[in-house]
Amino acid sequence: MRSLEAALDAEFDLAPLWRQADADAFLAAQGAGFVGLVTSVWGPVDAALLARLPNLRVIANFGVGYDALDVAAIRARGIVFSNTPDVLTDCTADLAWAALLDVARGVSAAERFVRRGDWAAGRRFPLQTRVSGKRLGIVGLGRIGRAIARRGEGFGMRIAYHGRRPQADVPYAYHATPQALAADSDFLVIAAAGGAQTRHLVSREVIAALPPQAFLVNVARGSVVDEAALVAALVERRIAGAALDVYAHEPQVPEALLALDNVVLLPHIGSATRETRQAMADLTIANLRAYFRDGRLLTPVTD
Ligand code: DGY
Repeated sequence: MRSLEAALDAEFDLAPLWRQADADAFLAAQGAGFVGLVTSVWGPVDAALLARLPNLRVIANFGVGYDALDVAAIRARGIVFSNTPDVLTDCTADLAWAALLDVARGVSAAERFVRRGDWAAGRRFPLQTRVSGKRLGIVGLGRIGRAIARRGEGFGMRIAYHGRRPQADVPYAYHATPQALAADSDFLVIAAAGGAQTRHLVSREVIAALPPQAFLVNVARGSVVDEAALVAALVERRIAGAALDVYAHEPQVPEALLALDNVVLLPHIGSATRETRQAMADLTIANLRAYFRDGRLLTPVTD
């Protein structure tokens, strides 16, 4: 993000790694000079990178999800790190709803229909699926999952969720397994954090448990869903459709999905509004400032 880079540059001695023609050579020569690192889901931090930064003390992750960070390796070195929770919750939940409404009502497909001249040529756009009053299942009832659920209340939906444990302060039904939730959902929205613990939580079996009229919406991480199983279910029309903002191997989107009109494909834009990205940038910098001023991050990741 340009404004983040400019703001970092104004306050710190910044070296944008992606501008280096040979980042490896640059790090080999100068890596020992860095004490802080700013990264995001698109800039993985693994043990090999850490080895090139022997004096690194702090990492500020531009984003709430930190599955691109090798947390064990970071902790083993005693490095602290922050993320950007809360500030992106609403926009990500909004996007989940935009995607859900789009795939259910065929908004993007209808728009393509108009642009292609099909309407003008006298064709009828096929009937789509009602959203209001249906069953909404949410995998992962964290900040973003809860914001998605609250929006679902406005649509008069019956809301249920699956997570590590039931949450006492919500009025929604809890399912102990993602299969049970899938079987009880017209819309299954994935909002669980990525990483090793949730890899393929939405497995082949979970996808098979979805009713044939169900839609799957993923605004979390591609890794949470068994993408090959999802693609097969969509191609074989075993579920009604999917709206995806995230993929297993971004920016690669499974070829088979490109031809399907009942699939909405977005380029990982959950938090991508000017307002939210600015708030994320501000929080990223505020974390670094606080760390270098008094040794404490504002939003450290401690789990
Ligand atoms: C996040 O915050 O984890 C998003 O996926 C990236 O903006």
